[in-house]
Amino acid sequence: MTPREVHFPDGFLWGTSTSAYQIEGGGDNTDWWRYERATGTHAVEQCGDACDSWNRYEEDLDLTARLGLNSFRLSVEWARIEPERGVISQEALGHYRRVLEACRARWIIPVVTLHHFTLPLWVADLGGFENPDIASWMGDYALVVGRALGGLIGVACTVNEPNIVALMGYLMGFFPPQVESWERFVEVNKTMRACHVAMRDALRSTPGSYPIGLPLSMQEYEALPGGEDLVNMIRHEMEDEYLRALDDDDYVGVQCYTKLLIGPEGLVVPTDQELTEMGYLFWPQSVEYTIRRAASLTDRPIIMTENGIGTDDDGQRIRYLSGALAGLANVLRDGIDVRGYFQWSLLDNFEWTFGYGPKFGIVSVHRTTFERAPKPSAQWYADAVKGFPSIPS
Ligand code: BGC
Repeated sequence: MTPREVHFPDGFLWGTSTSAYQIEGGGDNTDWWRYERATGTHAVEQCGDACDSWNRYEEDLDLTARLGLNSFRLSVEWARIEPERGVISQEALGHYRRVLEACRARWIIPVVTLHHFTLPLWVADLGGFENPDIASWMGDYALVVGRALGGLIGVACTVNEPNIVALMGYLMGFFPPQVESWERFVEVNKTMRACHVAMRDALRSTPGSYPIGLPLSMQEYEALPGGEDLVNMIRHEMEDEYLRALDDDDYVGVQCYTKLLIGPEGLVVPTDQELTEMGYLFWPQSVEYTIRRAASLTDRPIIMTENGIGTDDDGQRIRYLSGALAGLANVLRDGIDVRGYFQWSLLDNFEWTFGYGPKFGIVSVHRTTFERAPKPSAQWYADAVKGFPSIPS
């Protein structure tokens, strides 16, 4: 293949990050929708209409523009685009085309993820990430997306946090298909890398010169006495095997939320330190840590494609973001090639097994009217972006 010209959007990308299933509503043709209705799962409630962003995307983009953010990360839903095997919905593609045009009309650069946690039912029924054909199906799907939307995409993300899909779905049994097996987890991680390459290469063969990469979930790990081997083993599987495989990508997406303390028996949740609504350690320092770690293992430019905090206390969110942006300023000052930062998330949305409990948004969403109301952290973030690297108190 002739090398494809790649153009990064001009300037640093400042945005928020979202995903289709978590904000659009009506994701009924997916494995998650079915999982939420099955007995014996970890889902505390159903996603339903989410934030109704399928209908209200212009409102979301108006909010984004008003905050002075130059970018917005969203995902397109495979289950809508290819509702049945080999059947392509022009209606869904038309919808996403309008969403991307609405971004462009507001000078917002769309960062588009092709797979964010959910699978179409037909894929799940054929074995999901354990079907040997999954990489070729995802490559075909990426071709469809690239041909239809490539001219409008600003940055593309193939599979969001493939390591978390593998971990939660195939080792911990928390996400569909609720498997608990180290061997199957390791195999799915390998498959994920193949899916990513198939999608990246498919996108590269379609119109557009946008950068293509993979958003990886990274953590700051701290080994407690006796936990060192376990940390090395987890890191190897969750991060290093991926980072080593991304050398041909245009950028690496880094996503982080916290620091994990690992003892000889596994995760240890501290009882004497500040925690978030997810039960995570309050640890904005993980931004600086994970960016430095990614930069030490790859030579690709980095985009922080997700970072944020689940909290009901917006003051705590501001403190978290303030620490996160201070870390970002440090790595930029040291010359690390970071091209963007995306706060998770614009809206309070559907947080997977946790339902609507944890509040990650800088904008709240009324659960029945869907009315959006920016929180103080929204204005804080807007001011921080404008004045960066000086950070408002
Ligand atoms: C995922 C999001 C999720 C967020 C907060 C990331 O792992 O990509 O879908 O909502 O973390 O937990």
